[in-house]
Amino acid sequence: MPKGTYYFTKNFLWGCATAAHQVEGRNENNTWYAWEQEPGRILNDAQSGLACDWWGGRWQEDFDRAQAASHNAHRLSIAWSRIQPAPDRWDEAALDRYRQMLIGLRERKITPMVTLHHFSEPLWVAEQGGWENEDIVELFAAFVHKAVQALKPYCSLWVTINEPNVFVFSAYIDGVFPPGKKDLKLGLRVLEHMVRAHARAYHIIHELQPEARVGTAINYRGFSPATVFAADRWLSNLFNKLFNDTFPRALRDGVLHTLLNKHVIPDAAGTQDFLGLNYYTCERVRFNPFAPGNLFSQRAFPADSQVSDSGMIAHHPWGMIECVRWGHQFGVPMIITENGVDDEDDQLRPQYLVEHLHDLWRIINNNYPVEGYFHWTLVDNFEWERGWTQRFGLWGLDIETQARVRRPSADLFAEICRTNGLSADMVEKYAPQSLPKLFP
Ligand code: BGC
Repeated sequence: MPKGTYYFTKNFLWGCATAAHQVEGRNENNTWYAWEQEPGRILNDAQSGLACDWWGGRWQEDFDRAQAASHNAHRLSIAWSRIQPAPDRWDEAALDRYRQMLIGLRERKITPMVTLHHFSEPLWVAEQGGWENEDIVELFAAFVHKAVQALKPYCSLWVTINEPNVFVFSAYIDGVFPPGKKDLKLGLRVLEHMVRAHARAYHIIHELQPEARVGTAINYRGFSPATVFAADRWLSNLFNKLFNDTFPRALRDGVLHTLLNKHVIPDAAGTQDFLGLNYYTCERVRFNPFAPGNLFSQRAFPADSQVSDSGMIAHHPWGMIECVRWGHQFGVPMIITENGVDDEDDQLRPQYLVEHLHDLWRIINNNYPVEGYFHWTLVDNFEWERGWTQRFGLWGLDIETQARVRRPSADLFAEICRTNGLSADMVEKYAPQSLPKLFP
């Protein structure tokens, strides 16, 4: 068997991604905290509590871990609710904490990427109708102006909004994210406001920091027909269009096409310097006339899929190739802004990691421009409506003691980051079952 290394391109970004509400703890002023207080909203009625206690300062030890593991980049988000706790109040101390975090990353030679909205807003914004109210575009713009002005000396890589497609789906169709509605029409209005807010943010950031690079992070879910029947093909195509294409197309063309109508938003055209891709898994779509609430679909993983602890992620590394190919149509460089699997015992993760990275390497070697890879996530954290039931960290977390427990994948990923590549030795050591496939 040949021994070799799949090297990635020079200056490739390697690191983990996190989000404020999932790691910081003790933020009582945002929509997710309020959601957690409502019985039945979160699995087992769990609370984020201290989360990973980053607000208490434990970001330092976690950034030390990332540095020791040779990460050269980290994606984090900042909480609007902390920076602007009330409509007429900016919290300079909160901004300073974020400043310290970004300085902390840079001191460790880790390039920061900052997300400005990752699923949560201040309560006062929600009280004014949140994303349903078009005023949010200007409210968000003011927040972005303030935050970027303060943090631009330390960061030039910005994600405006994380997964607008998941946000709209989960908050307005599935109803599992706050405000917990099931109203497609409202959801589409929210999507329109998100496109407008992104466009405003994009232009503001570039005015403040001409060298900035600004994008979004889209959750790409590979939908394909379960059978050759026309209805399945039509439906899977519709899902791809609605879920995957809508947002980045609007940012490319300045036109938002939704199921119900079309909005021309000229300010949005050409507002992505890179496309962030969050890829986890893919699905087969089957037409089901008895499921109107589910857009007449039945979705499932391909037969014999290896699935994660919760059954929510199936291991389909070739989806990474499809994802990058799909992303290329938007004409900008790409960054994998999330990819990972919930796996408390680290049984599947090493294989998931090496096989996804191998397929990423293959597609990059077909000249698709991908500049980096962020693993979700560094340390187990609060998984939204699924509470603490899903463990995505390279390090495990004991929520009682705050102790971190290193999983073998942390060492595997460290070797990959250090080498800027994936070698046969690494695969043999951490994921021997993948060796024949990756190094035939
Ligand atoms: C979200 C993260 C989340 C991850 C795993 C992504 O869709 O951006 O916040 O933790 O999926 O579920």
